[in-house]
Amino acid sequence: MKGILLAGGSGSRLYPVTRCTSKQMLPVYDKPLIYYPLSVLMLAGVRDILVICAPDSLVPAQRLLEDGAHLGLNISYAEQPEPRGIADAYLIGADHVEDEDSALILGDNIFHGSGFQELLRSAAERQPGCTLFGYPVSDPERFAIGETDDRGNLVSIEEKPLGPRSNNAVTGLYLYDRDVVEIARQTRPSARGELEITDVNRAYLAQGQARIEHLGRGYMWIDAGTPSSLLQAGQYVEFLASLQGVRVACVEEVAARMGLISAQDCWELGARMTNSDYGAYVMSIADDLAEAGRT
Ligand code: TTP
Repeated sequence: MKGILLAGGSGSRLYPVTRCTSKQMLPVYDKPLIYYPLSVLMLAGVRDILVICAPDSLVPAQRLLEDGAHLGLNISYAEQPEPRGIADAYLIGADHVEDEDSALILGDNIFHGSGFQELLRSAAERQPGCTLFGYPVSDPERFAIGETDDRGNLVSIEEKPLGPRSNNAVTGLYLYDRDVVEIARQTRPSARGELEITDVNRAYLAQGQARIEHLGRGYMWIDAGTPSSLLQAGQYVEFLASLQGVRVACVEEVAARMGLISAQDCWELGARMTNSDYGAYVMSIADDLAEAGRT
């Protein structure tokens, strides 16, 4: 399965800071926002990832993530000259996806919860069609809202409905079969001038091939695109780190635990950042893995 991490956009709800840097490079407590969606793709078993950036943020993203080899990944990059919509990811990423299934994740989406890896892995195996991930929200009029039957099949999807049929928001993680590129090509810009991912999802719905995986109690999802949600995300991550010693989206840890890199490689990545608490944590994970007999 190929991966696309869509990290363009203007981030205008976070102005003024996003006038000089991209949203995805902003810190969520101890690490850049982009680590969070990257870790989700890794947990889903994706190794070959295209990162799509606005022109100004391409170089910082490359400096941060390089070619991904240090994490056992293959990361490539493409520019989105302007925010033409989320479905544009599949026009830009057509050559990357080729004829494979793919996972698309938005660069400002944070997911966390126990059992997420297993949920992702089994959803990724359940193609053809598309799998969306739903999350209950208190303000459904701000989101794309999906309604399902009792087996999780999507029966309706509405963009920012005035009278929502459910409170089940469609989050920024999408699994598609190989037809997605062709479907995205047939999509026309909406009234706001964007290629809407909801239109792509509607095409799958029309074929009876769309499902929603409900992320229930015990999961956390935040779209960290506003000052408040960015702060809440940081507070959540800090809370888990200080109370439980659990680090959300430490990509070096994910890579080492999944066997993509050795314990020694992990230790060396931590040693590059030894002055930060994050670096010390990465080294401590490497030590734990080495003690448990992992090389
Ligand atoms: P949004 O939050 O909808 O847009 P934005 O990031 O430009 O922010 P704002 O609304 O504050 O101006 O985008 C969700 C995610 O998708 C975010 O990570 C940026 C990304 N995105 C793109 O990369 N390209 C696009 O054309 C669009 C619409 C979004």
